[in-house]
Amino acid sequence: TISIPGAASPATDPDAQVTILGALNSLLSREVSHSPSSVSFRSETFGLQMIRYDSHETLSHVLTPEGAQIALHGSHEARVWAALPARGAGSPITPAQLKKIIGDEAAKVGQGRAFKNGWIAKDRDGLIKAVSSIEDTTQKELREIDSTGTLTAGEKSLADLRKRKLAVQKKGQWFTVHKGPSFSTSTAKPETDLTVDMLASGAWKSARFKKYNFEAEGIYPNGGALHPLLKVREEMRNIFLEMGFAEMPTSSFVESGFWCFDALFVPQQHPARELQDTFYLSDPIKSNSPPRDYYERVSRVHEHGGYGSVGYRAPWSDAESHKLLLRTHTTASSAHMLYKLAARCRGETPKDGEEYQVGVASGRGEGMTRPGDDGFRPAKLFSIDRVFRNETMDATHLAEFHQVEGVVADRGLTLADLIGFMRVFFKKMGIENLRFKPAYNPYTEPSLEIFAFHPMLDKWVEVGNSGMFRPEMLEPMGFPKDVHVHGWGISLERPTMIRYGINNIRTLVGHKVPIENVEKSPAVRF
Ligand code: PHE
Repeated sequence: TISIPGAASPATDPDAQVTILGALNSLLSREVSHSPSSVSFRSETFGLQMIRYDSHETLSHVLTPEGAQIALHGSHEARVWAALPARGAGSPITPAQLKKIIGDEAAKVGQGRAFKNGWIAKDRDGLIKAVSSIEDTTQKELREIDSTGTLTAGEKSLADLRKRKLAVQKKGQWFTVHKGPSFSTSTAKPETDLTVDMLASGAWKSARFKKYNFEAEGIYPNGGALHPLLKVREEMRNIFLEMGFAEMPTSSFVESGFWCFDALFVPQQHPARELQDTFYLSDPIKSNSPPRDYYERVSRVHEHGGYGSVGYRAPWSDAESHKLLLRTHTTASSAHMLYKLAARCRGETPKDGEEYQVGVASGRGEGMTRPGDDGFRPAKLFSIDRVFRNETMDATHLAEFHQVEGVVADRGLTLADLIGFMRVFFKKMGIENLRFKPAYNPYTEPSLEIFAFHPMLDKWVEVGNSGMFRPEMLEPMGFPKDVHVHGWGISLERPTMIRYGINNIRTLVGHKVPIENVEKSPAVRF
């Protein structure tokens, strides 16, 4: 033990540290050898390699409080023997008297053992000594344990004492301390920089320099972090903007059955509209009414057909149309935007800001056809926002997720334009291998599912759904017949999960997301 009189804690007091190092220096200069009965062995070096220490573990025995009493006063049986008279040397002692002399506990436990050892005997109604001298082995052994931590008699005796709860095993640890490779009696920190002053004064010659740590990582910047979904969203948004698209406003999560389904020519009996697929609102119970003549044109094409269509020939329900729901797709927003885009075609003057929203006033239709006498102006629109579906949730499905939505409206667009757009868009995300599969949507004909070959997963994965919007949807809005619109919906979660190697969507979205995943997820560059 090195004691430093008057020193504060050596951990904080540099003077104390120097004293300790000095003391260690003289101590460690002597070679001392140990032969510890070590159970395990550990060696450690401090950061600066000033000191090296080995740690050893030992097993020893210590006395329990009862064991300590016996070491001091003798075993119960010895005390019983000592309290009794020798044969003929006095009147025998009754068990009741014995209790009074040495206590209940010692009398009770001690009598049995003393009889067993043949130390005492019965005489009339009392007890007497049966031998003239005894050896109190228990006391002797406990005293040995107390001073050496073990017994020469060996494990069998130790186990017996442990069973009698007189001794217990104790783990101990002790250390051997050695000088380390950079031992010094000064605590001066090694230099980290070679300074002008050091060069000028020559101090660099004797200075101790800290080694470079090429493994060290930079300090992690602590600031806000974008969620991986937002990073991918930003990249996709940039692609749309560079392709001349305008972003649609998508802030209304609540839509009516009319805008989410009817306007898109989704039949009112369509399974997607059922409660198990769509979340409906109970309050308010009813949506505002859509523009009256448009509403009538839509209900007419559903019920009776028109624009070359036979319609669904099923009775129209106002109630179904006015139900409020959480939008199941952002195509509801597209419907609003396309309706606004067709304003001039209906002979209306667009409201303030509406033409900006649909990308016309911002020049987003550039490179497409010129505005015609019928008031039509081409547009390219996109959005990336949240949608809601009443789904069974599992590792890849949540009840809310994001859709990357878009529409392109121009005269004479064909399916080739849609396919061409997809090839360009996905190429910008680094995906060149696409396949298109015929599909069905109530609002598009033809419809295409889009598959991309994923080299990391080594398989084709579905990345989106798309199609050419039907005349039954576009013509009631007021678009001229030669204006065609293609649109699509792409998942935001799927490419993000693939990108970040996430298998379970719950690691990406929701209350189980480890926050450090968000902080440490790298930026995305397509
Ligand atoms: N609304 C479709 C979906 O939710 C995607 C889509 C949008 C398809 C536009 C065709 C046209 O999957």
